[in-house]
Amino acid sequence: IVALYGETHRPQIHFSPAENWINDPTGLVHYNGRYHLFYQHNPSDKIWGNMHWGHAVSTDLIHWEHRPVALRASPEGLGYIFSGSAVVDWNNSSGFQTGDHPPIVAIFTHSSRDNHQVQSLAYSLNGGDVWQMYRGNPVLDNPGIADFRDPKVIWDKARNQWVMVLAAHDMIKFYRSDNLINWEYCSDFGQDVGSHGGVWECPDLFPLDLPDAGGQKWILIVSLNPGAPNGGSGTQYFIGDFDGRSFHCDLPETLWMDYGPDNYAGVTWSDVPEQDGRRILIGWMNNWQYANALPTSPWRGAMTLPRELRLIRTDAGLRLSCAPLAELATLRRGNPITHRNVLIDEAYDLGNGAALGELLDISLQMDWPQQEAHDWSMHFLNGDDEELTLNFDMRSGQLCVDRTKASFRIGDVASFSSEIIAPIEIGGETSIGLRMIKDTSSLEIYLEDGRGLLTLNYFVESRLDRLEMRSGRDGHPIKLKAASINALTGIW
Ligand code: FRU
Repeated sequence: IVALYGETHRPQIHFSPAENWINDPTGLVHYNGRYHLFYQHNPSDKIWGNMHWGHAVSTDLIHWEHRPVALRASPEGLGYIFSGSAVVDWNNSSGFQTGDHPPIVAIFTHSSRDNHQVQSLAYSLNGGDVWQMYRGNPVLDNPGIADFRDPKVIWDKARNQWVMVLAAHDMIKFYRSDNLINWEYCSDFGQDVGSHGGVWECPDLFPLDLPDAGGQKWILIVSLNPGAPNGGSGTQYFIGDFDGRSFHCDLPETLWMDYGPDNYAGVTWSDVPEQDGRRILIGWMNNWQYANALPTSPWRGAMTLPRELRLIRTDAGLRLSCAPLAELATLRRGNPITHRNVLIDEAYDLGNGAALGELLDISLQMDWPQQEAHDWSMHFLNGDDEELTLNFDMRSGQLCVDRTKASFRIGDVASFSSEIIAPIEIGGETSIGLRMIKDTSSLEIYLEDGRGLLTLNYFVESRLDRLEMRSGRDGHPIKLKAASINALTGIW
């Protein structure tokens, strides 16, 4: 596929399909040096529908190569191909292997014309390029639940079994299998915990090492739509234990992976080589509230940057952090613009009077005094009165983002312009570290410890080439301890 990738709003450091509609990442699997990214795709239109699995591969999780559609819908048969997962069947438990190489098996939802949802298999015998449907589909029939989808299968090393987590309306169902074909129901999770403002979708289950002591905790990720903290689609997670049949969470309260409106249906890669050992997630950088209205052409939708997940200990307890991959640094070009110990009493131009590039990787260290509570703001601007504004309020411990002036051709979708708020818990710290990755039409903001704060899309007519920092309404000067602004090279 030849794509110029130079269109207005076209992401330059994020994955987007050459043409047409994209939603969830799915079937994320590493095999023989390549990371496979499959995705929900309508190959014939820019709106949701006619779901297939699109396909791309990468060797570094930064640069992507488009591949032909991997799984095709059969509207007359079991239906469209919704989200799911893929695993390498190292021991050929499924019996699909014919030659020397273990098969990759995809487990996904078939959703028929009348929305009957069942779970099916497909497999690849050549490392993920050519796929065949399993003849015995479906492998898991619908027990009479309208929303019954998004199987994520993992290999449970400790118990030598396959485990499937599946979204069933607003609960998660657990199943086990020895061969990926016959599934035994084990348990339900979610009755009395988490957020239930919408349908649960796209679960994922995996262990992570504890940050300090030895040992691990299990993480269950569950996307929810609607019902996210800033409206529409969002992702909650649970930290707890898994005994091979059921999951028990430590805390009843809802934890959010990202407070931004545009990080949904994120799941993690299977079979990342052990010597790497990272747990890597990618999400769909969008929100069902306005996904079908994004003002882009000839494609619609993109993925977040891949992120490494870790457990960290905060004053409030264990939390999931998700930081951009270290590989992102390979896109840096030239010397960064740096600032040190600047007292800002009105406005300060972080570009030193020159226009900034469009793709930026920004690190900031700000004083965050506990005594005199201050507020301050950052402004991505241009000369055409377009602006993306970040208001940091220490009193309330909140970051509040305003994208009303960065909603070109989508401003009439009210949900796009509503206020976006993220709590900032920094405990007793007296400074705050922030990392921001800016693309042509998205901004990802992380706390220094890796906690994801916000991921959001924005749309402007002219590029935002200035970045200003301003002291707040209370009139106190603010102190920028350090800043480093790196220009990035696009990946296409
Ligand atoms: C999540 C989702 C999934 C479903 C897919 C359909 O965004 O609704 O639950 O499998 O999209 O495209």
